[in-house]
Formats: sequence, C-alpha cells, structure tokens
Amino acid sequence: MTHPNRRPLIAGNWKMHKTVSESVALARAIADTRIGPRTDVVVAPVFTALSSVRAALEGTAVALSAQNLHWEAQGAFTGEVSAAMLVDVGCRFVIIGHSERRQLFGETDDGVAKKTRAARAAGLVPIVCVGETLSEREAGITFDVIGRQLDAMLAVLDEKALATTVVAYEPVWAIGTGKTAKASDAQLAHAFLRDRAKNKLGDGGDTLRILYGGSVKADNAAELLAQPDIDGALVGGASLDAEGFGRIIRAAG
Ligand code: 13P
Repeated sequence: MTHPNRRPLIAGNWKMHKTVSESVALARAIADTRIGPRTDVVVAPVFTALSSVRAALEGTAVALSAQNLHWEAQGAFTGEVSAAMLVDVGCRFVIIGHSERRQLFGETDDGVAKKTRAARAAGLVPIVCVGETLSEREAGITFDVIGRQLDAMLAVLDEKALATTVVAYEPVWAIGTGKTAKASDAQLAHAFLRDRAKNKLGDGGDTLRILYGGSVKADNAAELLAQPDIDGALVGGASLDAEGFGRIIRAAG
C-alpha cells in the first residue's frame, strides 16, 4: 500500500453520462457506501450536473470534480468554463488532459500546462492524466511519452505543489477496453513518474498521488492498489454503479 504521506484517492470519472437527476441519485448512493477513514473519494459528473451533485454531497465525505476547464479566467471563449467558475459551483478537483480530450479534442501538453496552472491558481487540485497509446507501447516509447506529458505539468509546479496535485496514469489501450495493465507494469510506470517528479522538483515527489486508470473494476482494484506507487484509481465505467464503485473504494482501505 501507499506511502504514509499519501492518502489513497478513488475518483469516478462519469464522462458524458447521466442526466442531472441520475447524477444526483448516483452521488447519493456513493456517499452512502462505507468509505474508509483514510480514503479520499471524488466524483466527476458532467458540467450540467455539478451544481445539483454539490448540493447532494453537502456534508458527506465525497468531493466534487469537473472533467475539464479552460485556462483563461473569463471572456469570449464559447463553450468553455473557467477554474474560478468550477470553484464557485463547489468543485475541489478538476481532471486535466484526459486521453479522450487529447485524442478527440486536440488537447496538447501546452494546454495541459496552462490548465494545470489555472487550476492551481484557483485552489483546485488538478488530476492530470498521462498515458501511452497501444502503438506507442508496442514501439517501446511508453516512458518517453508519459515522461514528456508529465514534464509539461511539472514545468508549472514547484516541489510544494506536488502534495496537492494528482497524476493519473491511464494507458490509452486499457481505457474502456476491459484490458487492464498488469499490476507490475502499472507499478513500473508509476515508479518512473514519481522518480521523474523527484528528479525535477525534489523529494516532495513522495507526496504526489499517482492514480491508475484503465478498466479498473471491483475485482482487479485490490491488486493494483497494493502496488507501492499506486495511490488510487481513476475509474470510468465502473464508477457509474455505486455498488461496484463502493467495492473499489473499500479495496483502497
Ligand atoms: P474505464 O474505467 O471505463 O476504462 O475508463 C478509465 C478512464 O478513462 C477514467 O478516466
């Protein structure tokens, strides 16, 4: 299990699923599951449900995240939402640079860096996603790719910021495919990311939480979470079911 400096974090990325009322019902059901005293739980509904889910989670142990933000504070950016607006609606976390955003919406490392800076400036905890595609893995360049993606984020942080920043290692080939990285392979990637953060910014890298994502389910969570550098999970499909998500939460402690 994880270093004593790092609390396990289980985050549910609901992606583009659920209406407002469905989101509220799911949030309530998750808040009602048993959550270990050392485990942090976060849910990331669609933008339209954030306000109602915030109200439903009031006074519970579950925190609210958005799935994206824009780096500017305000202005003529049709369709975008700023960090301050996410704080205003009750978010404490924001997912940045998810592979779906990189692949389908043209997000770049530069954009990820700007979003990370904007999130932190507003007091949000960024959950910055990195991960290689299948062809990159097969070409043997996994560490080059995730190293480059991590560096974009590290460039806008200092050592102290690592304690309130989260990285999610999500191999693209494992997302929504039912294929999970072997726990030992995931551990290698997580250790690589932590070492790189420590080399660039200092031993504060020991406080950086690194989540694994990609087909995490109730029946594979325990093995993944047992790895020394896996500090939690970013869960897609399995976070849409409170019972299964609850079992993943309990696998964390
Ligand atoms: P799945 O758990 O559905 O594979 O999704 C992972 C993910 O992309 C979480 O952000």
